[in-house]
Amino acid sequence: MANLFSPLTIRSVSFRNRIAISPMCQYSSVDGFANDWHLVHLGSRAVGGAGLIILEATGVSPEARITPDDLGIWKDEHLDMLQRIVTFIEAEGAVAGIQLAHAGRKASHSSPWKGGKALPPEEGGWQTVAPSAMPFIPSEPTPLALTHEGIDKVISDFKTAALRALKAGFKVIEIHAAHGYLLHEFFSPLSNHRTDNYGGTFENRIRLLLKVTDGIRQVWPVEYPLFVRISATDWTEGGWTADDSVKLAAILKKHSVDLIDCSTGGNVPHAQIPVGPCYQTPFAEQIKKETGMMTGAVGLITTAQEAEAIITNEQADIVFLARESLRDPYFPLHAALELGHDIEWPEQYERAKPRRR
Ligand SMILES: Cc1cc2nc3c(=O)[nH]c(=O)nc-3n(C[C@H](O)[C@H](O)[C@H](O)COP(=O)(O)O)c2cc1C
Repeated sequence: MANLFSPLTIRSVSFRNRIAISPMCQYSSVDGFANDWHLVHLGSRAVGGAGLIILEATGVSPEARITPDDLGIWKDEHLDMLQRIVTFIEAEGAVAGIQLAHAGRKASHSSPWKGGKALPPEEGGWQTVAPSAMPFIPSEPTPLALTHEGIDKVISDFKTAALRALKAGFKVIEIHAAHGYLLHEFFSPLSNHRTDNYGGTFENRIRLLLKVTDGIRQVWPVEYPLFVRISATDWTEGGWTADDSVKLAAILKKHSVDLIDCSTGGNVPHAQIPVGPCYQTPFAEQIKKETGMMTGAVGLITTAQEAEAIITNEQADIVFLARESLRDPYFPLHAALELGHDIEWPEQYERAKPRRR
């Protein structure tokens, strides 16, 4: 019995194993719509045996997108294809989740394979917003500091997006509060220089995230899990720290958040990040141990043995895989074989399942 394949129930949602597909932007949408690419990409990973599949950072408004090619959920017309994707994922035995996102000052860029640069208005760019009027990179356009009216709109956009996610059939929402996007920009002192009740003290800097969380929880059923992805450290002197993350996680627990997905970095371009196998897992472990909050580990988890050890050693409750799952959509099926754990293969693929001699 491999612990990686032990089922997990959060609220009333059961996951067949501890392997989640981490949200990954596909930059393949037009006007926010999902399409056949998303169905095949996400569907393959459901066929591949993951327990949870979280759709990419999905714009809660057009201006919340990183690029014009991002997935969106700001209008009802987006729902048809999302519903189709959810139905397929569930038919293959996985749970479908969606990451709700606002890119803040990192919005209005071109997609990576189109250069990944700040987009001027004549090329379809738009005015970005942030806690403070400071660009991510000095040479980039300066974002507008959000007014209180603007902040209220962000909260309301997340809430409406959550309602739409429910209509589409998702059973997990993950709030994107990592990687230097809007909610992270607010809680990190490196990007938030406000002097009102959204800046300054720790309590003020986390206020927007808490209001977004509460807004979503008002419409998101009590039976369904709510995750928050954070950058557990800015890896930068004077920035957000692991201890701040522990404090935040304990507060989020009281706001009906079920799991913290522990990523790091992304808020300043010059951070020195000690990248290596499982390099972010210690943050998941610390938050789990110090708060009792469930956590997800992510970041350079690439082998069945690493994933199994993280669950067995109780460093995290779920492992999130991103790039390894792009290399191998069937990672869970292969990991089970490697760990000597018998799991069902899709009926259609049953004849290819290796038999133990
Ligand atoms: C193509 C690609 C797109 C990504 N898009 C997102 C995203 O939409 N939201 C997010 O939180 N992280 C995103 N990430 C980060 C991954 O979810 C993950 O945290 C990171 O790649 C580290 O995990 P890995 O080492 O397993 O790839 C993306 C990563 C990749 C490779």
